[in-house]
Amino acid sequence: GDWELRVVCMGAGYVGGPTMAVIAKKCPRIRVAVVDISTSQIDAWNSKDLPIYEPGLQEVVEETRGKNLFFSVDIDAEVAAADLIFVSVNTPTKLTGIGAGRAANVKNCELCARKIAEVSTSSKIVVEKSTVPVRTADAVRRVLATNDKGIKFQVLSNPEFLAEGTAIDDLMDPGRVLIGGEQTPDGLAAIEKLVKVYAHWVPRERILTTNLWSSELSKLVANAFLAQRVSSINSISALCEATDADVSEVARAIGSDHRIGSKFLQASVGFGGSCFQKDILNLVYLCESFGLEEVAEYWNQVIKMNDYQKSRFSSLIVSRMFNTVTGKRIAIFGFAFKKDTGDTRETASVFVCRNLLEERARLHVFDPKVTREQMMLEFEYSTGTTEKTVPGLNELVITAECPYEAAKGAHAIAILTEWDEFKNYDYQRIYDSMAKPAFIFDGRNILDQAKLGQIGFEHYAIGKPRRKEW
Ligand code: NAD
Ligand code: UDX
Repeated sequence: GDWELRVVCMGAGYVGGPTMAVIAKKCPRIRVAVVDISTSQIDAWNSKDLPIYEPGLQEVVEETRGKNLFFSVDIDAEVAAADLIFVSVNTPTKLTGIGAGRAANVKNCELCARKIAEVSTSSKIVVEKSTVPVRTADAVRRVLATNDKGIKFQVLSNPEFLAEGTAIDDLMDPGRVLIGGEQTPDGLAAIEKLVKVYAHWVPRERILTTNLWSSELSKLVANAFLAQRVSSINSISALCEATDADVSEVARAIGSDHRIGSKFLQASVGFGGSCFQKDILNLVYLCESFGLEEVAEYWNQVIKMNDYQKSRFSSLIVSRMFNTVTGKRIAIFGFAFKKDTGDTRETASVFVCRNLLEERARLHVFDPKVTREQMMLEFEYSTGTTEKTVPGLNELVITAECPYEAAKGAHAIAILTEWDEFKNYDYQRIYDSMAKPAFIFDGRNILDQAKLGQIGFEHYAIGKPRRKEW
């Protein structure tokens, strides 16, 4: 048809899918195609059961799919026909080789660049949407330049700031859009082309433009600062428990200072998700590779504090329950890394569960959006927990259909995700069905502790004054 612009996105994941759906909705005259090497992923995007859960996503996809939004495995044809190509592929932490355990693997980005160079017959703008180490755009540019057809490419950096669980709202009304590009006439023209896409719905003053390296680095730094706030308040939660201060009160008091601000001060069992740890490790590795040992160590501490918080919570469960959970049934409420998502990548829940399994506890897990299959994959992927490392794993981890079933006969409940529905359960009914003394460990501070006490629970929450008898 008579399209204003043809856009393609390589990578149909948590970022590519929702981002392109929102561009399609806001720009009816732009043709948007999302391609992926995974046929099953594309099939799911074309079906009734989308591959990811995100509030509001289904509606946006149903409104645009087949009109100006298309999901396809025909990568070559879609890339060849596009004016602007987003690269939104996964860039996980390297597991082996140089920088293993810290450096981000940019293999998928390079493969995309090679594919673009191979199939293009006209000049294009290539946009890094993936989170990448600083100077990746330089590598992408050099790979693109190897094409033998004399085609000129422009490379832009346009990191994504959406958070899972609120992706559609974040995309519809972003705090800012960041676009980095080469500071040359051609680079600036490419920047302007991408600015025009976002300007369909984002006020101009919220579209920030800069050079490539500032843009790439800003994404890593934004996540490092956000994660640092969580680790900072979590470090204080341990001190609160030792002193009878209340971490929620401390967060309220310090957050009222506008220079500090009230967001991201919710003490928890620890941050999870596919981004925070990976991106901080990426930053740490970058610093190390430039010989900045002290800077690397400073940011690495944010991750160490998070590891401490997760193991502190599982140790606390064991010590409160008379120093043994062997053979005890523990109900786990929540497996996703935060509410309103089925994503389990790096979830704090899996680490707490792993530690409890090593103590030979029996876990009955309930999460509104996570399947058993996904849960078992996460055990293996995140913690290396398999039948081999924990014999009887498949029987020790039971997935429950509902919270009441999970809690029935249990010695304890651990709340590990802050799902809203967890607040509204009938805790009297749950208490009545449990073994006594009935423990409840709130790793998200979402329950009314006083009420739990009245019911008769032995209750614990993060960073709260200790009960006298403990
Ligand atoms: P994801 O794993 O959900 O999706 C990535 C997709 O890319 C997969 O479907 C995979 O099959 C596909 N892919 C891999 N190589 C490909 C290739 N050569 N050609 C075509 N498709 C290919 O990952 P995600 O969560 O969407 O993250 C993508 C990037 O965005 C990462 O760099 C991540 O750091 C960044 N990011 C993620 C979030 C988030 O909340 N998940 C937020 C901001 C930024
Ligand atoms: C994050 C960034 O927020 C987003 O801008 C970026 O694009 C991708 O990474 P995401 O990982 O999806 O988004 O979720 P986020 O809301 O940041 O939460 C990350 C983790 O921190 C979750 O496990 C969450 O439960 C935890 N958290 C967050 C806290 O424990 N306390 C808080 O106050 C805030």
